Amino acid sequence: MDIAKIKKTSLQFNVPIIRADTEKLLQAVLKKYKPNNILEIGGGCGYSASIMRKILPEARITSIEKDEKRFNELKKVEGLHCLLGDFFDVIKEDRPVYDFVFVDGAKAQYGRYFDAVDGLLCDGGILFADDTDFVNIKTRGAKTIVKGIEDFLEKAHNKYKILMDDTVLIARKRVKKTFGLSNCDNKPELLAPAGDLEKLKAALECGADAVYFAGKEFGLRARAKNFSNNEIKEGVELVHKSGKKAYVTVNIFAKNADFDAIREYALFLQSIKADAVIVSDLGVLRVFKDNTNLDIHISTQANVVNKYTAMEYVRLGAKRIILARELRLNEIKEICEFVGDKAEIEVFIHGALCISYSGRCLLSNYMTGRDANRGECAHPCRYNYALMEEKRPNEFFPIEENGGGTFIMNSKDLCLAPHLQELVKAGVKSFKIEGRVKSILYIKNVVTVYRRLLDGEQFDYMAEFDKQIHRPFTTDIGLAQFGGGQTVV
Ligand SMILES: C[S@@+](CC[C@H](N)C(=O)[O-])C[C@H]1O[C@@H](n2cnc3c(N)ncnc32)[C@H](O)[C@@H]1O
Repeated sequence: MDIAKIKKTSLQFNVPIIRADTEKLLQAVLKKYKPNNILEIGGGCGYSASIMRKILPEARITSIEKDEKRFNELKKVEGLHCLLGDFFDVIKEDRPVYDFVFVDGAKAQYGRYFDAVDGLLCDGGILFADDTDFVNIKTRGAKTIVKGIEDFLEKAHNKYKILMDDTVLIARKRVKKTFGLSNCDNKPELLAPAGDLEKLKAALECGADAVYFAGKEFGLRARAKNFSNNEIKEGVELVHKSGKKAYVTVNIFAKNADFDAIREYALFLQSIKADAVIVSDLGVLRVFKDNTNLDIHISTQANVVNKYTAMEYVRLGAKRIILARELRLNEIKEICEFVGDKAEIEVFIHGALCISYSGRCLLSNYMTGRDANRGECAHPCRYNYALMEEKRPNEFFPIEENGGGTFIMNSKDLCLAPHLQELVKAGVKSFKIEGRVKSILYIKNVVTVYRRLLDGEQFDYMAEFDKQIHRPFTTDIGLAQFGGGQTVV
């Protein structure tokens, strides 16, 4: 992509391009927020679009330009989704949700752009408008332009959180109040991961209602520090002192040789009064049923994706089902209704997603000898891959995704913060946060945000999540879970 050439062409067509200071700000904002789905109003010959493409090679960038002659130039910019026509006509047909909108069209129309953009931008999304220097425009601009910018600024200041108001306006769409659950009987449990005792304490302090952790054996996170038997005992006591609950994961897919030790472990967990065990293997479930009266939670690893399977686990004695992550909201609701009060339903609301179907992955074992289903995943989905033709065994063709490499199996992180209300209505009883191997800062940040949301607080939760470095977020799980496949920032 020859950006210098695009600049030259723009000037040839008399299409003004963004100023150097706007360009710098645009780059900085894109680097900070890393949007996935960008809309540009006023693509011109593609200069600003190429800058955005260079900064975020993976993002989908849609650029709208009403001048057909210039549009042909815009169309030549690699990897852009170009739409021809007047913005107001085009959006009647193309109405996805964007997480970043760059406004650089006709100044007299800015007031009208605001209303339309507001309908296209997701909650927490960023609005970046060029040429909003009102004082300058007032002294030099035509009446219609002054009116357009004035109208735009007034609406933005009333409705958005202003991040910068100078020669450009940068603002964030406020997150709608999603909760009023404070006095609600069916407020769900907030369940946090505890990779070690310090993280357990942090999760409790930040407002988790319950924590889950594993012993040195039989959990599926061999690389988390995990708890010795003494630590499990101490952990459970600490949790109970705070009036909260402690669940111990025993979600290994056990081999015949594991069972004597599992039986012993079951008796130990019973003796220290763990509140529940999380299992995925039917043999392990049987051992706990026969030897203890501990509550049984069925792990997400058991891949429960339908109401009949859920009910079957209930018949076998499960008190709670942690659903697979590949479900749509309406399916979750149906399962909750079908199971009724015979068992509780738990779902993951935040954290890393596995590229494979609910973690059923053999790649790690195949490539490194570390068995993902016995807690040793080496995360091969985060590796960098190339393409090889069968008859040229040592020739690797790079597959270019972005300058940093090709991560074709990488997944975004799950963040269902915008949809908690819907999950509560569906009947979900426990909200689970993923991340037993994540840092203590991560635990504090994420648990605090969800505690505040569950307590009915209205605040810019995305800004809070952004205080930690995180992968881009998504609400998509397999098939667009919340309709439209909206990606959140
Ligand atoms: C300042 S130029 C854009 C320059 C471009 N962003 C860049 O930096 O390379 C403004 C462009 O907006 C286009 N435009 C104005 N009103 C528009 C509308 N309602 N819909 C689509 N394009 C519009 C104009 O044709 C013009 O090409």
